[in-house]
Amino acid sequence: MAVEVSVGEAIRPRFPVFRDKVYVNSCSQGALSDTVRAAYEEYLDGWDENGAEWEHWVERSESARTAFAGLLGAAPDDVAIQTSVSAAVSGLISALQFRGGRNRIVISENEFPTIGQIAHAQELRGAEVVQVEPHPEAYAAAIDERTALVASTLVSYRTGAVHDVESIYGIAREHGALMLVDGYQGIGAIPVDAAKAGDVVVGGTVKYLLASAGLAFMALRPGLVEELVPVQTGWFADENVFDMQIERYRPHRSARRFDAGTPPVPNIYAGVAGVGLIAAAGVPAIQEHVRGLVERLLAGLEELGATVASPPRGPLVCIRSTDAPALVAALAADAIVVSERDSSLRVSLHLYNTDDDVDAVLAALARNRRLIL
Ligand SMILES: Cc1ncc(COP(=O)(O)O)c(C=O)c1O
Repeated sequence: MAVEVSVGEAIRPRFPVFRDKVYVNSCSQGALSDTVRAAYEEYLDGWDENGAEWEHWVERSESARTAFAGLLGAAPDDVAIQTSVSAAVSGLISALQFRGGRNRIVISENEFPTIGQIAHAQELRGAEVVQVEPHPEAYAAAIDERTALVASTLVSYRTGAVHDVESIYGIAREHGALMLVDGYQGIGAIPVDAAKAGDVVVGGTVKYLLASAGLAFMALRPGLVEELVPVQTGWFADENVFDMQIERYRPHRSARRFDAGTPPVPNIYAGVAGVGLIAAAGVPAIQEHVRGLVERLLAGLEELGATVASPPRGPLVCIRSTDAPALVAALAADAIVVSERDSSLRVSLHLYNTDDDVDAVLAALARNRRLIL
């Protein structure tokens, strides 16, 4: 049976923003679909009809766990439901000890502030943070038997570079260090096999998973959870949340021990719907589609003599600018939605973008050539 591939023009009518905008800003937030809007409405209808449906919330949370697990090739028992990557990483790191000669945290210069700032917070607990250039050789020079944790982003939010996380993971493993991958800027647009990427993979639903703020996830290598006892915790981490017990700390035997408070229910409704769209289109098909768009964009940029911050192998292209905020504003005046970081214009492409979107961006850049380096 032929599988219907829902990318490009085929899926676009489900995202109203495209009626009057060229939306190439999934690196900030994915576009809103009819499905995700309907999911929020379903949540509100249930609230009207039944009041607090808390047993149902637990069920919904389990659906989200299964959806994230499917995306990462993980088992649902190895996935924790989180409200942000910050919450996930803080929970994880609360289970690590920076003692006994293993107190080093190695991060790259491309990490999102979430990772960098949480790493530095551990200096209060005896950790030493080493920041390296974003390639395996630089990681190799910094990782040794003193290393407790290695962190790498999958795709840099500021350059678009795709990190070679599998090689970095190999180096971390050789030295007995734990490897954390921040997949936020890639998951949904790039296939990720959690087992190959790292010991722990985190991400959230705001960007390429097409939902909103307030829902994130953390996938742990099978068996790892038994070695980790978080002290940042909450009642949903208990062995049986329905027991409502206050006699002891009794972390769940699965990754649920990293779940914390009441799950972010509205965001879970939306997140399950967003991940559903991605899963239906298929991440490999999305990657292929996005690759074509990125190649078209790069060819046009070359003609314009523009410089990209890093050769993009993923969905994000960062174009060097003399005044990135002015360039964002100029494109906004042409109904093109983009963003900027670090003196670069960020153009990110996803399943709903088309050649016409790329051509519109290129035409607008040509009109604003003076703002491009
Ligand atoms: C690479 C990366 N990590 C993490 C985040 C967000 O982290 P949090 O969920 O803690 O807000 C972002 C959001 O822009 C991101 O781009």
